[in-house]
Amino acid sequence: MPRSSLRRPGQKLDLSRHLYESEQLPSELSSSSLFQNDLPLELEIGSGKGLFIDNASEQNPTHNFVGVEIIAKYAKHSAAKLARKKTSNALMISGNAETLLAKSISAESLEAVHVYFPDPWWKKKHRKRRVLNESSIINLTRCLRPGGRFHFWTDVLDYFEDTVELIAEITPILGVPLPEDEIEATHDLDYRPHLERRSRQHRLRGYRDRYEKRNETLSA
Ligand SMILES: C[S@@+](CC[C@H](N)C(=O)[O-])C[C@H]1O[C@@H](n2cnc3c(N)ncnc32)[C@H](O)[C@@H]1O
Repeated sequence: MPRSSLRRPGQKLDLSRHLYESEQLPSELSSSSLFQNDLPLELEIGSGKGLFIDNASEQNPTHNFVGVEIIAKYAKHSAAKLARKKTSNALMISGNAETLLAKSISAESLEAVHVYFPDPWWKKKHRKRRVLNESSIINLTRCLRPGGRFHFWTDVLDYFEDTVELIAEITPILGVPLPEDEIEATHDLDYRPHLERRSRQHRLRGYRDRYEKRNETLSA
């Protein structure tokens, strides 16, 4: 995403409840270990400047939200927004979502996984760097509870098509893609993720899907 300047969190702002480095994390990530309650837990991969996690946690106070962002200054910026509002149901992790999905989240423990406008890695030789790849899709599917949701939006058609194909091939238990409608935005901050605003302001075509993990175990 464009590296525009970010508002610096004031030095006095206490981020201790809203920003975790990977090495500070409990061995298993859950509502119980992170929020000391048992509310349903939603995970966002690649939060960028944190608009989604900020809005979603405010609009859904009966769910917990964890954003994982690999660029430390973005993770800090997003955590600072949550800390300023004293949000009690959301926090940021500064680290690699792929590692956390593989190692730190129990099977069938997540209510939803959100991936909005992931870095496209246009060149064919770089596509293996995409955050949605075979192993991350297998891992996020394993982490979702039956009935849990996977939301994926992008404005890159081939990323969208490759991901839909990959899911059908390797994790059919995620079910069929369901279209997600655009919600009317009346205010600049009504958009779900930050890049949705840019995409819609420039009238770029967006591709959006939601999956809901099936209850049954599919035979191979
Ligand atoms: C193009 S930005 C989109 C940000 C936000 N979702 C939005 O729509 O505005 C993609 C973000 O994913 C982050 N990212 C890429 N790979 C990641 C990974 N393995 N773990 C966590 N974050 C990652 C990038 O640093 C970047 O901030």
